[in-house]
Amino acid sequence: MTLDVRPEQPADRETVLRVIAAAFGDHGDEVAAIWDGLGRHKRAGLVVEQGGHVWGHVGLSRGWVDARRELVEVWVLSPLSVLPERQNEGIGTALLAAAVETARESGVPVLFLEGSPHYYGARGFERADRRGFLPAALERTPRAAFQCVVFEGYEEWMTGQLIYPAIWWERDAAGLRDPRLAELEERFADLG
Ligand SMILES: CC(C)(COP(=O)(O)OP(=O)(O)OC[C@H]1O[C@@H](n2cnc3c(N)ncnc32)[C@H](O)[C@@H]1OP(=O)(O)O)[C@@H](O)C(=O)NCCC(=O)NCCS
Repeated sequence: MTLDVRPEQPADRETVLRVIAAAFGDHGDEVAAIWDGLGRHKRAGLVVEQGGHVWGHVGLSRGWVDARRELVEVWVLSPLSVLPERQNEGIGTALLAAAVETARESGVPVLFLEGSPHYYGARGFERADRRGFLPAALERTPRAAFQCVVFEGYEEWMTGQLIYPAIWWERDAAGLRDPRLAELEERFADLG
């Protein structure tokens, strides 16, 4: 049976929130609430369907790079969720590829995310700090986890700090805090 990746529709809301909550375990309700809250903001979601069931979801929401010349509109990829019973079958990889294409087609210059450098690095993302970008939570984002894909519209002056919409701060969900922050910094220490 083929995997069908399609845009999230308003009617998918409850299903998508359930998929996110299940994928993220203990933090699931919080992550789902952030995605729901982004409904009042500019966002785009994709779902993966097979056999009439939604097995995964990826969210894109608008952020900005605070460049010297002007504010640059970008996309931030979060969250990426696959139902636990279907993880490690390539669904996340398919959703990620579709999200990158959606971002590319929208004409933004850059797509950002915070996540595993192993997972995303093997799927086309590069370290954003190496292009001079600064993460939204400056002191609380392991640099190896702050990643991006740049598209055709990217120009070298578009550098600066990534700005997240207010909900990330209202929910204290930008970057990480100790002890998780220290744990990941240690895990990524060899990546510089
Ligand atoms: C992370 C996640 C989206 C990956 O999707 P998936 O469909 O399970 O993954 P795929 O089948 O496309 O890829 C499998 C790879 O993902 C890795 N992987 C699975 N879960 C992972 C995780 N939580 N962190 C990092 N890598 C993970 C596997 O080890 C495997 O690695 P390999 O390619 O080196 O063998 C999915 O496991 C998930 O929803 N996890 C819980 C929520 C989460 O952590 N989201 C990402 C937040 S940044």
